[in-house]
Amino acid sequence: MTERIEKLIEEMSLEEKARQLTQVNAKIVYTATTAAITGTGGAMGLSEEDKAGIGSVLNFSGADEEKAVQDDHLSKDPHKIPLIFMQDVIHGCHTIFPVPLALGCSFDEALAEECAEMSAVESRLNGVQLTFSPMVDLVRDARWGRVMESTGEDPYLNGLMGKAFVRGYHKGGMLCCVKHFAAYGAAEAGREYNTTDVSERNLKEYFLPAYRACVEEGADLVMSSFNLLNGIPLNGHKDLLVDTLRKEWGFDGVLISDYAAVKEMIAHGYLETMEECAETAIGNELDMEMMSSAYVRHLPELVKEGKVSEERVNESLRRVLEMKEKAGLFECPYGDTDAEKAKDVNLSPAHRALARKAAVRSAVLLKNGGVLPLSADRPFALAGPFAEEKNILGSWACHGRPEDAVSVKEGLEAALGRKLVSAKGCEGDILAADESGIPAALEAVKGFKTIVACIGEPSASSGEGASRADIRIPAPQAALVKALKEAGHTVAAVVFGGRPQVLSEIEPYCDAILYAWQPGTEGGNAIADLLLGKEEPTARLTMSFPRKTGQCPIYYNCFNTGRPRIPDTLENSNYISSYRDTLNAPLYPFGYGLGYTDWELKGVRLSSEKIVEGGRVTVSALLKNTGKRAGSALVQLYIRDRFASVVRPLKELKGFQRVSLAAGEEREVCFDLSEEMLRFYTASGEFASEAGKFDVFVGLDSSTSLSAELTLVK
Ligand code: BGC
Repeated sequence: MTERIEKLIEEMSLEEKARQLTQVNAKIVYTATTAAITGTGGAMGLSEEDKAGIGSVLNFSGADEEKAVQDDHLSKDPHKIPLIFMQDVIHGCHTIFPVPLALGCSFDEALAEECAEMSAVESRLNGVQLTFSPMVDLVRDARWGRVMESTGEDPYLNGLMGKAFVRGYHKGGMLCCVKHFAAYGAAEAGREYNTTDVSERNLKEYFLPAYRACVEEGADLVMSSFNLLNGIPLNGHKDLLVDTLRKEWGFDGVLISDYAAVKEMIAHGYLETMEECAETAIGNELDMEMMSSAYVRHLPELVKEGKVSEERVNESLRRVLEMKEKAGLFECPYGDTDAEKAKDVNLSPAHRALARKAAVRSAVLLKNGGVLPLSADRPFALAGPFAEEKNILGSWACHGRPEDAVSVKEGLEAALGRKLVSAKGCEGDILAADESGIPAALEAVKGFKTIVACIGEPSASSGEGASRADIRIPAPQAALVKALKEAGHTVAAVVFGGRPQVLSEIEPYCDAILYAWQPGTEGGNAIADLLLGKEEPTARLTMSFPRKTGQCPIYYNCFNTGRPRIPDTLENSNYISSYRDTLNAPLYPFGYGLGYTDWELKGVRLSSEKIVEGGRVTVSALLKNTGKRAGSALVQLYIRDRFASVVRPLKELKGFQRVSLAAGEEREVCFDLSEEMLRFYTASGEFASEAGKFDVFVGLDSSTSLSAELTLVK
């Protein structure tokens, strides 16, 4: 702690301290400051004095605007403590990268790091010092709109990717906040803001590790979540916020609430008054309250009444001031804000090139009946509402503008140097059940054998507050695909979306399916690169794709049950764990994805059939590129602990490797498997491995049955 911070803590009144621990929307506080800011002011019941001493503003940036707000603030704040500007820079600031779920599918930590770094560079110049990212909530239910913000259903991969984001933001000079602690992604029925109920074991093993990984990587802030978890709203969870986060993980950065979550403890039915909310939150070491005013209104009196110690308040204040110091704001209150430089950097060719690379590496080829890549000199046409759509940025696109994005049509035309015919097929609201545009679309493309059908859900259909109870492809688009196929076309679908959508209805009518997610600014160019074979699709799914919405939540690392359906066929459904109307397996499993060549993987071998405590074995398998093109495969390592004091999942991802081979080339792929990787929370609560037999799987997706048996001897 610097002298400056110590001095401030001594000088500040309790009221001033409470203000410093509050974050608000700039529109509320600085109504009159600049023409760019509009809003009602006073919405949180803040006095002019409160507003003058506030600690931070959120989701407000723009180099000039930030300077104006900071100047205004410093002219009023008696202690001249600069504001810190935080924003949701989730997948880019001006240049928009694919949504995190898509980026996760790259299985490429270096790429995620690079995207985060460039996001930070743009953000800093635009007046942001801290991003509310990475979001590492474990997601298993595609109905939940926010799955697009996570990297998927695997705790290990989420941890790796989360750490990569943290490193990237730091490299780019921006602080970052891991969220939403904890288990927000377990919202029941995938309904936004809904209840979560997760056993302690499940929490520890699946939901918490990725947050912890980010804390260990140096995330500066942690955001506590909105949700009711096991009967208590998160900000009431002393066990998680103090015992786990602070004591066990040693986190000493700022813990911030999610938007208005402190006062929402009242709506949850947990606390009755704002005063209680303030007392509980500060007692649980919540340092900063976002968008509610329990601290401003009640902290001073709580201290005076002896209900909260001033030392507790000072500790939070210290963390907040240290964060500002870390951001360099006491030296330069504008951070790295630079409007002129921002003009050159935002959407620069280098940033666009990275966005294109990221979109190429994020799109997953789900089906290919030999139609892709398209041959550049064979005519084809485009159909569907996304062919010319430029809003393919995805939710949380920050300053990204659709007009700066490249549509599929623009990307393909630029690559081919010729104009393409395209027919939308769905007029008006693409979620509405209007099929009237289909005949005209069929007419427009009738001279072309091959049609690239660009379909999916709009950006606004996923993200915060955007859960869907039915995640099928919107009906008119499914009808369009069917009509195209029935008219004799070869159909290559390019599907846009912020979640796994149910593709079962369109799959039979598609000769190829490329899942583009929401690919960001350079989406159209990247899709052109992939469709035309300039690049190979290399991404693999990090969330299972259900066959029917009713399968949600669905994830690969599930349990066998006492009555598993094996084989997974509809005939085999009596009194066993199954559905009458669909298989148990997803349409496309975790880890799945195709490229433009074919692979053979065989001969899983272990360097030893036995492993001991602290020991390791090498797992190897023979990979051959049996196709006609060079390509790269993502070889994945999974384990299953057959019998344990606590039942273990059918498979757990333990490693992955990208292997590039020339046509016909063969290589032995090796993984290091240590005894440590076999550990879990045992029945006695210990994190340990247990003696016994394990299946060690190697595969090209999580459905692999290629395995060898390993025995752990203790
Ligand atoms: C979201 C957070 C976000 C915050 C600030 C909340 O509604 O849940 O993810 O960081 O708003 O925008």
